[in-house]
Amino acid sequence: MRKKVVAGNWKMNNDLIMSNDLIYSIKLKLNKDNDTDIFISPSFPFLNESIKHCKGTKIKVLAQNVNENKSGAYTGEVSLSMLKSIGIDSVLIGHSERREYYHETDDILLKKLSNSLDEGFKVFFCIGESLNDRKNDLHFDVIEKQLKNTIFKIEKINHENLIIAYEPVWAIGTGLTASPDQAQEIHAFIRKNIAQRFGENFSNNISIIYGGSVKPDSASDIFSKVDVDGGLIGGASLNAQDFVKIVNSI
Ligand code: 13P
Repeated sequence: MRKKVVAGNWKMNNDLIMSNDLIYSIKLKLNKDNDTDIFISPSFPFLNESIKHCKGTKIKVLAQNVNENKSGAYTGEVSLSMLKSIGIDSVLIGHSERREYYHETDDILLKKLSNSLDEGFKVFFCIGESLNDRKNDLHFDVIEKQLKNTIFKIEKINHENLIIAYEPVWAIGTGLTASPDQAQEIHAFIRKNIAQRFGENFSNNISIIYGGSVKPDSASDIFSKVDVDGGLIGGASLNAQDFVKIVNSI
């Protein structure tokens, strides 16, 4: 059985008070019987406190990034062992904003992925094509290349430790959402490629979630697709009511 997963990527938003308020409101609104895996990802300075506020709830705390090196002279960076020491055990890797603005190549992302899996972290790994790729009908090629250069280079993965997030770059923060059929088409393609590389059992059990302008009124149509196992939510995750509505749309 594949896990249903909804994660809120808060990106560089919210100060301490806003982060705490948002967690408080999500907790109040969340249905206790929900069996979806729910993640939030506040910024680094607030992770420690967020973990404490989420203790005893269904909400897990996800780091937005991690450095590919173990430790040392990397000013401004955060390591896996630092995250581990405050109780974080899941991390987001390969977001298109990191790829684009911070020049994170597939090689760097592979290192982050490999180290994180070795340390027992659950990894949310993002892939997705740009608008140009889509216009030029290159989306399948781009997705396949991203998979081959990163996830497929890992020898052995436990499916519970990997969640693939399909995030078409043209749909992130733009208000443009991939149609449910477009999302399904790519998710099925990813699952087929995963099956070829890691086997049917692995591919049937791995969660593949969609991200890109998911809103409360568009979530249920996307989540109804057979290969869409949940969502990675940006803007709408900053509002407790919208986020919980999305969680409840699965
Ligand atoms: P939006 O939902 O704001 O488009 O962001 C999606 C995203 O980048 C999640 O990681």
